[in-house]
Amino acid sequence: MFTIITGAQFGDEGKGKLVDMLAQEYDIVVRFQGGDNAGHTVVAEGKTYKLHNVPSGVLFDARLLIGPGTVMNPKILLEEIEMLAENGVDVTPQKLGIDAKTSIIMPYHMALDTLREGKRTVKIGTTSRGIGFAYMDKVGRDEVQMADIADSGRFKKRMYEIVPQKKSAIKEMNGDPAIVTSGLDDYLEIGKRLKPYITDVSREVNLALNAGKKVLAEGAQGSHLDVIHGTQKFVTSSSTVAGSACAGLGVGPTKVDNVMGIIKAYITRVGEGPLPTELKNKDGEHLREKGMEFGTTTGRPRRCGWFDLPLAKKSINLNGYTTFALTKLDVLTGLSPLRICTGYELNGKTLDYPPELSDELAGCKPVYKEVPGWGEDITGTTGFGDMPGNAQKYVLLLEEMMGVTIEYVSVGPGRKQTFKK
Ligand code: IMP
Repeated sequence: MFTIITGAQFGDEGKGKLVDMLAQEYDIVVRFQGGDNAGHTVVAEGKTYKLHNVPSGVLFDARLLIGPGTVMNPKILLEEIEMLAENGVDVTPQKLGIDAKTSIIMPYHMALDTLREGKRTVKIGTTSRGIGFAYMDKVGRDEVQMADIADSGRFKKRMYEIVPQKKSAIKEMNGDPAIVTSGLDDYLEIGKRLKPYITDVSREVNLALNAGKKVLAEGAQGSHLDVIHGTQKFVTSSSTVAGSACAGLGVGPTKVDNVMGIIKAYITRVGEGPLPTELKNKDGEHLREKGMEFGTTTGRPRRCGWFDLPLAKKSINLNGYTTFALTKLDVLTGLSPLRICTGYELNGKTLDYPPELSDELAGCKPVYKEVPGWGEDITGTTGFGDMPGNAQKYVLLLEEMMGVTIEYVSVGPGRKQTFKK
């Protein structure tokens, strides 16, 4: 069985928590795009783990894989492996596999990311992790791969070709070209330590599926940050939608059984770009404070707004969701009335689907449907029927409007605070 999970909004929908929960039922959990710009927080047995590279589900028996469509900072990965070991979680090569072709994020990628963002008149608000520049090198065929840092001969040959090019790129942006060659030996050292983890992810995943095993592909970021279909230029540099899992992992689309969207009961965005339902008032503050809406990777406060149905509809098209998990419903407790954006007004017209271009989306004024909220604490609920009537009605209304089943509802950060609807 092959299941793909992606974020249906702008990232931070709570994918990590859902994947972590579902990992118990899967043999393999695999990352297919993105890098350490992603972050997920797993709360288990009183401990909080903040992870960026290690796929979700690390606390269960599933094998974890990092696919060749990702970009990876090996220093951060090693730090995560060490942090987990200190907490008694041994991430051995039997547990984790890294594809030989995974692109390595080098110090010059991070430097270029920061320099470029500094020079943009209209900022993207990148995480400064070097993601865009590492992907540019993947597509430009100038990447350093996992296999390169694990072999000093390959690495030296690669760097011989790349160093002059990167030095001149950094100089051109008034940066310090010394960054290109500083700490290169560290990469070889880390490569040596990560070498036992190298694997062929496409082969492993296909073998597992052919043997009837269960594979869960874990997306990073969210659908509207997709480099092709998102709100350019305020997007990440990889394809974040479900189809990207097949391309990134080397698994044919005929193998896909389920596509689950993770969607918050409201919406958030970190960084720049249009967000039609953004709230700059006390309701927005409520969502940020109660939802602890601060970036896992950068700590930046997230912009918060009401649930946006047109964006959800587009996400359903982009991913072909078979099912949804609705997260953070508890954050809405205490707000009444609640608002759901059912459409937009743009240039005197009413739209029920987002316009394709970002500047048009930025000009959209939301049209809202108001529904009554609830005041009761729902963080302890373990079943749909135990929730206050208005909370049940809110979920059922979203389900009806989206036309896709909401299979799971999450009412808090802990593992036990998610139930099947
Ligand atoms: P980059 O991926 O660092 O290049 O950043 C591009 C945009 O994507 C910025 O607006 C980031 O804030 C956003 N972004 C990147 N990763 C995440 C994520 O995991 N969650 C939410 N937003 C993200």
